[in-house]
Formats: sequence, structure tokens, C-alpha cells
Amino acid sequence: MRTKLSVNINKVATIRNARGGNNPDILKVAKDCELFGADGITVHPRPDERHIRRDDVLALQGVLRTEFNIEGYPSKEFMDLVLRVRPSQVTLVPDKPEQLTSDSGWDTEKEQLFLREILNDLREAGIRSSLFIDANPRMAEFAAEAGADRVELYTGPYAHMFAENPEAAIAPFLKTAECVKKLGIGLNAGHDLSLENLKYFTDVITWVDEVSIGHALICDALYMGLEATVTAYKKCLIK
Ligand code: PXP
Repeated sequence: MRTKLSVNINKVATIRNARGGNNPDILKVAKDCELFGADGITVHPRPDERHIRRDDVLALQGVLRTEFNIEGYPSKEFMDLVLRVRPSQVTLVPDKPEQLTSDSGWDTEKEQLFLREILNDLREAGIRSSLFIDANPRMAEFAAEAGADRVELYTGPYAHMFAENPEAAIAPFLKTAECVKKLGIGLNAGHDLSLENLKYFTDVITWVDEVSIGHALICDALYMGLEATVTAYKKCLIK
């Protein structure tokens, strides 16, 4: 099994929005990422539309040839949008509207009833679901019980500890990933993954279905160019 790379293009929209207009053109960037080997495109439309806007999501659905992953908090507006667009995957995150970026996963035990209903709506619409969780086997178990098709492990803590002690950094992720495998649901990972820490993560946890990467990849593209960058990230995923 090969781990898929989904490129998160939020940051590209941030640059575009800084000046109004349509430069850079996020539809072109998304199509080019696909051309250069990305297996999917991820966006996170936030209520204040500070990067990806609702109209971007609708436009992207018409042009993408690979997997489209939409992340977000399942507000009524978000659910109306994803049920209209019907992307390949919806990743539910517990973010508050004003939050800078996702910084923790769901409490899948406490939010069980709420999540169950939302996950059911996604299943009925034929959309694969994923729940963003911390590296905690218990959260994976309750995610599976709520009916999630996959979980996405929040890899921020792994990335922050990686340089200091890779083995200690990955230990809770490996434990949770083993639990996810036993539960028979899919496994995604994302947040703060980079050219430094990605290969080790997917070499140790070989059954990751998909990683979604934005910030570091777009930063690398400033120096390396988009094609070389996507190629370099894909190379990290070769077993
Ligand atoms: N996964 C989720 C749920 C996220 O919210 C984000 C950031 O939008 C990412 C992955 C990607 O994180 P990064 O931009 O640090 O690669």
C-alpha cells in the first residue's frame, strides 16, 4: 500500500487574498499539483473565508481529477456546502471559527452523539469521512464507534518533538495507528509534516492511507518550485 499525498492549498489562497484579484490562481495551482503527482487536494474553508472561500470549493469540485478532501467544523453552513459539493472525503475538525489553525483532535467520547449524526449524513451522501484526533487509542476507538471511515492523526506534537527524539515522538502515534489498524478503519495523518519528518513517520507507520500537507510544502515551493517540491514529498512516501 502506498501512502497518498493530499496537498492543502489554503496558504495559496492566503497569498491571493492579500491583494484581492486572482494571483496566484488556486485552480491552476491545484491542477498543477495534480499534474506534478499529488494524489489529492485539501482545503479548509473557514467561516471568515480568510483563505479558501466558498466559491473556491465549488469551483475546485469542477476541475479536480484526484481526491478532493474538505476539512472543517461541521456547522450547518459547512455541512450544506459539503453535501452540495460531494467531495471524495470530508475531514471533521473541532476548530472554533476564530482559531488560527487546528491544534487538537475531537473528544470522540464526549462528542459521540453529535459526531454519529454528522457521520451518518456523510455516509448517506456517499462521502468518505475522517475524524481529526490526537494520538490516543481511546479516541480512535470512539471514532470507529461513531461510524468514522477514517481518522486523521494530529501530527503537530510528533513534528515538534521529532528533531529532539524521533522514537519518543512517534511512540504514541504508532500505538494509536496499531489500534486503528485493529479497528479496521482507515488512517490519515496531518499537521506540521515536512520534508524533515515525513519519511520517518510513514516508514515506521507503513499503513497510513493519506497525509495532508500544506504549510511546509508551500514554504518549500518558494525555494524549490512547486513541481520539485511535490516530487520531493512524494519521494518520502515511497517504501
Ligand atoms: N490536517 C488538518 C485537519 C488541518 O487543519 C491542517 C491545516 O489546515 C492540516 C492537516 C495541514 O497542516 P499543515 O498546513 O501544517 O501541513
